[in-house]
Amino acid sequence: MKGKREEMNVELIDKKIADILADYEVIFIVDKNLSHRFVDDLGEFDFHSYKGDGVLNLPSKRRIYVGIKNFDLNSLRLASATAFNAIKELNIKSVKIASYSGDCVKMSFEAMVEGFLLASYKFDKYKSEKKENKIEKILISTEDYNSKKIALDEAQIGIDHAHIIAEATNFTRDIVNEIPEIYTPQKMAEDAKNLSLSYANIECAIHDENYLKSQNMNAFLAVNKASIHPPRLIHLKYTPKQSIKRVVFVGKGLTYDSGGLSLKPADYMLTMKSDKSGAAAAMGIIMGAAKMELPFEIHAVLGATENMIGGNAYKPDDVLITRSGVSVEVKNTDAEGRLVLADCLDWAQSELDPELLIDMATLTGACVVGLGEYTSGVMGNSYELQSEFKNYASRSGEYLTVLEFNDHLKELIKSDIADISNISSSRYGGAITAGIFLDKFIKDEYKDRWLHLDIAGPAYVNKAWGYNPAGASGTGVRACLYYLQKLARNHQKGQN
Ligand code: BES
Ligand code: ZN
Ligand code: ZN
Repeated sequence: MKGKREEMNVELIDKKIADILADYEVIFIVDKNLSHRFVDDLGEFDFHSYKGDGVLNLPSKRRIYVGIKNFDLNSLRLASATAFNAIKELNIKSVKIASYSGDCVKMSFEAMVEGFLLASYKFDKYKSEKKENKIEKILISTEDYNSKKIALDEAQIGIDHAHIIAEATNFTRDIVNEIPEIYTPQKMAEDAKNLSLSYANIECAIHDENYLKSQNMNAFLAVNKASIHPPRLIHLKYTPKQSIKRVVFVGKGLTYDSGGLSLKPADYMLTMKSDKSGAAAAMGIIMGAAKMELPFEIHAVLGATENMIGGNAYKPDDVLITRSGVSVEVKNTDAEGRLVLADCLDWAQSELDPELLIDMATLTGACVVGLGEYTSGVMGNSYELQSEFKNYASRSGEYLTVLEFNDHLKELIKSDIADISNISSSRYGGAITAGIFLDKFIKDEYKDRWLHLDIAGPAYVNKAWGYNPAGASGTGVRACLYYLQKLARNHQKGQN
């Protein structure tokens, strides 16, 4: 596992903002309100052309203004991230900020602090000159923008949760960013094992290729055939003190996807170290849930392998008999994620009997084409589950769109010689037909408890966006942790 990352210290201080000593101050201008008591000393600022966004950094006055529309959670996250990015190179150690609290104090604090912590991530392991994070401390005053009385305990819980969410996200980002030479299936297994050694309530079991053979996981094994690195089926389990529900995450862990014999063109192959993002997110979720002590029994099932070329490679034209018995005609070896997931999903159902089953995968380029780089596709069979997930998980700031299955698209994965084909016969609707392929491996009793998240777009983006630096974003971690947090809160309310 990674060496412990130095995280910024965030301190809640029960004093007026003016009474707090710091090297710099961050001030949000809310909805263009330049006459608020927090806003003065604007220097040469041009009021007339002010549109309500943007940044005004005044190093000589040791303060930075950031425009923000309202107290929406994602506006708060983006504003603190924007402020951080604008001042991180300055020679300052401490930054102070007032409280900007919307309806819920805990959530507002959590969002604002997440913005700072998520923006401060960097992957500089391979840089010979590293830029140290200069800012060590964020000091948050309880003086509120709307003069609200801030409950210290609520604010502190928000800050604590933000630390956990950011740590889990950054842990996932580190895994995804790591290079394929280092990050093999065995390395993933080692990281999972170390996670279980660091947390008393996490267990880990690692299954090797012999186990996969004994389990007839032939689709998973086929993808691994041409790799010099053996595959691993990794099973992590977090046990809470009391569980509301058994939740199983299944993650696509392609430590490298060259496309196999249906080889990717060079410029599409680049970034395919990120094809392990689903598995990495599942690990981050287990870490976050354990730290937050969420009341769910949570499992992560990771299918870790490379997809490579060689004389021993699986081929287009092969037919694979999956663990569930469904036969699959391979028409393209680059549609490998669904093969690995087919066996892992089947294993997860029969071995773990999930009450909620969520798979996460960088599954299709089509999802990126359809939704853009920043949005994940949500698929499944239950409209209620999909929309509940979308609504609750969106509070994390992750973008999600529900993609609906239909019977016409179901026709497209038919095969002449096997039960199904691993690619669609049409060039259209590739994200959904991949989801429909996975659905073939979901047993009737689990149909309505299953969600498929295609995170191919946002998991890894070549340029910085929002509070994400270029590279891995940790997509899925925040969405799922927010979703589970909300389910836990609803359950608690229902009981009271
Ligand atoms: N890992 C890729 C999908 C992907 C593409 C992830 C771009 C992130 C960014 C997946 O294994 C793949 O290659 N899918 C093929 C499927 C096709 C052959 C049906 C694709 O999307 O082109
Ligand atoms: Zn592929
Ligand atoms: Zn892939």
